[in-house]
Amino acid sequence: MNVIVIGAQWGDEGKGKVVDIFSAKAEYIVRYQGGNNAGHTLVVNGKKTVLHLIPSGILHAGKICLIANGVVFDPNIFFEEVQSLAESGVFKQVLPYEMIRVSERAHVILPYHRTLDRLREEYAGNGKGKIGTTMRGIGPAYEDKVARRGIQVIDLLRPQLLKTKLQLALEEKNILFKHLFNTQEVEFNKLYEECLKLGEKLKPYVANVRVILSEAVRDNRPILFEGAQGTLLDVDHGTYPYVTSSNTVTGGVLTGSGLGLNLKAKVIGITKAYTTRVGTGPFPTEIEHTEKELANEIRKIGAEFGATTGRPRRIGWLDLIALKYAVEVNGLHGLALMKADVLQGFDHVKICTGYRYASSTFYDLPSSIEDLEKVEPSYEILSGWPRYEKNNMKSFSDLPQEMQTFVRTIEDYLGIPVVLLSIGPGREETLLLQDPFQS
Ligand code: IMP
Repeated sequence: MNVIVIGAQWGDEGKGKVVDIFSAKAEYIVRYQGGNNAGHTLVVNGKKTVLHLIPSGILHAGKICLIANGVVFDPNIFFEEVQSLAESGVFKQVLPYEMIRVSERAHVILPYHRTLDRLREEYAGNGKGKIGTTMRGIGPAYEDKVARRGIQVIDLLRPQLLKTKLQLALEEKNILFKHLFNTQEVEFNKLYEECLKLGEKLKPYVANVRVILSEAVRDNRPILFEGAQGTLLDVDHGTYPYVTSSNTVTGGVLTGSGLGLNLKAKVIGITKAYTTRVGTGPFPTEIEHTEKELANEIRKIGAEFGATTGRPRRIGWLDLIALKYAVEVNGLHGLALMKADVLQGFDHVKICTGYRYASSTFYDLPSSIEDLEKVEPSYEILSGWPRYEKNNMKSFSDLPQEMQTFVRTIEDYLGIPVVLLSIGPGREETLLLQDPFQS
């Protein structure tokens, strides 16, 4: 069986840790959408590693990590990560390109995409147009892909084609830089030379990832698909326009990796025991203004600061309406419930089970953000659970009764099981209740 790991909220659910644990059971680990806007913090043997682009499975020896066609790929960031992993001793026995392959078809993030991302956000000021992006050039790179003026990884290895494509791209970009944003134009020769050098360095990593995956599926080799961001940031199904520019939902796996519906996979949604969001946009259960002290406490205990940008994350209670939506749009088979330990010692915890709006109660996410901004959450209040000694928690039945009730309430509401429960940041602080690779 293959496994797909999807963020069920607004990202930052703890996918890195789940992917790290599941990687032990997979032969291939695949990133299929997004880019280095993701930030996966992993704690292994007490050592913290943050990865933005390379799949988190890289920390396991003997795995093949694939960056598939749906990713927007920043070569400079890629080489920085390879270097830092090499310094941590990850490639002791092998050459890095024996463990990592990058799709020929992935689109490249170039410096002008980052500049454009920043300029657009600055231009929007504090007005409604500001998305609060990670400024990594993700949106502009996807725009170019869809507008059919993107540069693909394979182009970096084809000097003549690269020249033509880059000239065309810059013609338009420089008009924007000069006349709209009133800023410096991009110098063609310098960028072209840089791209050729990057291409040369990238050569051993470049592969037809679709073929590798297709063969893996044919031979029943277990694959782990590592989603980035979260369902509510999906460009089609998220809280548009306050979303990222890729399909973060399960559908993105197929288009982003070149596989078809014959892929057999269990889809596991990752959620925290509460909710966070970075960047702008509606967030019904947010408590930043209503329970400010509690929000600060959760942020502090849960270390809720962006792994990519360091921004403080906005905090809110668990939202079962949004989670139910995630179950449906992704076809989730199970949930991984993260950071339940952060809420230990709280007197009570709240879970949102309805949205009130215009004297009615709704049980689905409204399509318009105008409506989502206005809804008031209806809460079910559950007893909190006492502090527990992590080392004594070997199985579900060891957990405090109130915590068990919390988990069962979520399962009952959503109709899917919690397959993994994280009770602390470390790899070992995890209860695997069902193994999705086995089912
Ligand atoms: P972009 O992906 O940089 O274009 O940012 C678009 C929106 O997605 C912003 O609200 C970001 O904060 C959010 N976002 C992008 N990547 C992540 C992530 O990995 N975790 C949480 N939010 C993210």
